[in-house]
Amino acid sequence: MVKNFMLHSLLSKKSPPTEQPTLWLAPMEGVIDFIMREFLTNFGGIDHCMTEFIRVVDQPISDSVFFRDVPELQTQGKTAAGVSVTVQLLGSDANWLSQNANRAVELGAKDIDLNFGCPAKTVNRHDGGATLLKSPDRLYQITSEVRKKLPAHIPLSAKMRLGYENPEDCLENAAALAAGGVSHLTVHCRTKKQMYAPSADWTWLKKIRQKIQIPLIANGDIFSVADFKKCQDLTECDSFMIGRGALQDPLLFVKIKGLVEEDAQISSKSIQDFFRANCAVSPHFAQARTKQWLKNMTGKSEKMSAAFEKLKVITEPANFEQELQLLFEKSLQG
Ligand SMILES: Cc1cc2nc3c(=O)[nH]c(=O)nc-3n(C[C@H](O)[C@H](O)[C@H](O)COP(=O)(O)O)c2cc1C
Repeated sequence: MVKNFMLHSLLSKKSPPTEQPTLWLAPMEGVIDFIMREFLTNFGGIDHCMTEFIRVVDQPISDSVFFRDVPELQTQGKTAAGVSVTVQLLGSDANWLSQNANRAVELGAKDIDLNFGCPAKTVNRHDGGATLLKSPDRLYQITSEVRKKLPAHIPLSAKMRLGYENPEDCLENAAALAAGGVSHLTVHCRTKKQMYAPSADWTWLKKIRQKIQIPLIANGDIFSVADFKKCQDLTECDSFMIGRGALQDPLLFVKIKGLVEEDAQISSKSIQDFFRANCAVSPHFAQARTKQWLKNMTGKSEKMSAAFEKLKVITEPANFEQELQLLFEKSLQG
């Protein structure tokens, strides 16, 4: 794990500006699991996290699955760094979503988010994720039923893309979710059809705000401090969610908050710690996840790019760990 001394030395570089945005680490299935949440929140700057989606079909999710995917349920819904973790559910059956949301709360969840943005074919084919954006009535029906049956003090939020095909559908979809009782709404500013291109169109946020009163979280394509400032100016939002940008640059959150210089980078030791933390699952898993993360960082850091080139061809975790150690020793020599 990232050591606190490292965090303190990073944070001591600059004094924070007074007014800070609220920053969310985006949920990313197959990437932002418990270990990654622990890791990224330890670097600082993140105010809230969300779990990868937990798929709800027509049965209860077992407690062991909840605890496996969200170990933070056992620590007051927070990561070790004290950052809150929202449980995200994905499905279309209001009754089963509701039952599973309530079970998550009984197990320790402090809030629940519903996923209406997932573009994956298998998910959409089974009536989940972004396909529901074709029907504001269903968005309303699902959220209102889940809201009605959740304890009143537990916030229910939603995360959506603009629409399935038409971006302008975001206005009706957001209105349906707000009417259904969600307390805040994250908007990934693309349609399902757009997948990840063209660029996110942040201008929709202001138009949505003219329609509904609940707080909005702007999401999509924040990869740098400059992107963040542009998004902030265009949307006038207070809250922002960052996914892929956090993988490329784990210090993006503290950079946005002005707590470190923009050229600050994480150390090779952090990569070694990440690998070791993932070994708790299995050495091969650790190797795959470490390669995945390094690959993400290649665009932003020459150091990580060079490390990825060396490490990507290694197939044996023991050799992989040895090479990580060598890289770490080399980095100590400057
Ligand atoms: C690999 C991957 C997995 C994702 N998994 C989820 C998920 O489980 N739940 C969700 O709401 N969004 C998911 N998303 C969407 C992200 O949360 C986010 O909305 C999207 O990547 C845009 O933000 P970004 O440009 O900051 O990455 C995923 C995205 C990616 C790339």
